[in-house]
Amino acid sequence: MLDRATLLERTVHVMQQNRQRTDGHTYTVPSTSSYPYQWFWDSCFHAIIYTHFDSAAAKDELRSLVAHQHSDGFIPHIACWQKHPTLSVNLCLDDTSGLIQPPLIAYATWRAYEPDTDEAFLAELYEPLAKYYQYLLRERDVREIGLIGIVDPDESGEDNSPRYDHLLGLPPHHSAEENFQKRMQLAEIHATCELKASCTSKTFWAEDVSMNSFLVQGLFIMSDIATILNKPKEAHQFKDKATKTKTAMRTHMFTDGRFWSLQGLAGDKITSKTLDLFMPLFAGLYSQQEAAALIQNILFDEGSYWLPHGVPTTAKDDPAFDPTEPNWGEHWQHPTWRGPIWMSMQWFLYYGLKKYGFHEKAAELKQKSLRLIEQSGFREYYNPLTGEGMGSIGFTWGGLTLDMTGGE
Ligand code: GLC
Repeated sequence: MLDRATLLERTVHVMQQNRQRTDGHTYTVPSTSSYPYQWFWDSCFHAIIYTHFDSAAAKDELRSLVAHQHSDGFIPHIACWQKHPTLSVNLCLDDTSGLIQPPLIAYATWRAYEPDTDEAFLAELYEPLAKYYQYLLRERDVREIGLIGIVDPDESGEDNSPRYDHLLGLPPHHSAEENFQKRMQLAEIHATCELKASCTSKTFWAEDVSMNSFLVQGLFIMSDIATILNKPKEAHQFKDKATKTKTAMRTHMFTDGRFWSLQGLAGDKITSKTLDLFMPLFAGLYSQQEAAALIQNILFDEGSYWLPHGVPTTAKDDPAFDPTEPNWGEHWQHPTWRGPIWMSMQWFLYYGLKKYGFHEKAAELKQKSLRLIEQSGFREYYNPLTGEGMGSIGFTWGGLTLDMTGGE
């Protein structure tokens, strides 16, 4: 089994290879060949990975992430610091994208602060972060019920997840090319709507359990940061906002012992079996009793989620389940969330299990994750039935396994 020293060495190597410097900023690209730009939630993961061997790099990763913030608070999900000769056409017409990604930045900032409790760093990031969370609450609560929504599948980070098939008008089985084309059509709507969610939401609108869980957690962390920075009024306001979304999740998303993502402006339930229902474990939003039932009855089901090599992004018994890599297009055109294992999800689940006291199963998930790295290296995603590595190579997210080791 991969020991921590070897894992550390391999992680440092991948992160160093992928780290870039432009205009005085440093940031890390997820993969030099397939993803040569800075991505939002990737950089949050990178900051967490860096806390294990380079706390200055962790902070710089987040500084460069907020460097492309717009005056209204928006932070793009892709920042194209240097245009890539072939990938610039589709991904970076302008210098950045016009979409968001899962709002993990407050959590990542907290993790980057922890090693040396650097209050000056918190003070530096506080205003950009406060503006960003205010932007989300102002622009993305289109139904005005306290939940934020997404206007494109890519905003969830789970680009082709079956959660969005219905909204895109796709059947459970379709080609990677069809999925890509549908998402490209949405890009035209974004342009017509000038990136206003109030307009785009008429075509595509999903209130995701994952996005809202990360939002609630982020707002509570913002409250803690404001307290440390001696801003009691703002600390109180952030806590209020966190509580409002937490309550809205209960009111609108919670039935039959679990949270459900919603779609369309009528807020219909999304019933596909992905991993959204488990993200409130990471954010601590289930009661102990709810979590225990969910984990034992759903997560540990070996015909569904608890597979030989880890937890698949779409359950094995969902009609859309496909554990393989599409044989069409470039890697960046078909990241697949319809079955393969992605290391970020293993990591969320690991922390979720630990939070509710399932230490043995958390350790089992960690061992499976380490085996994937040992067997298949730092790949974009893995086949949950065979452990085969797929998608791009030299992909940074494998470094999250470092954050799963050494703590117990
Ligand atoms: C793919 C993934 C997305 C990630 C991006 C860069 O598009 O689906 O979650 O942020 O690659 O790694």
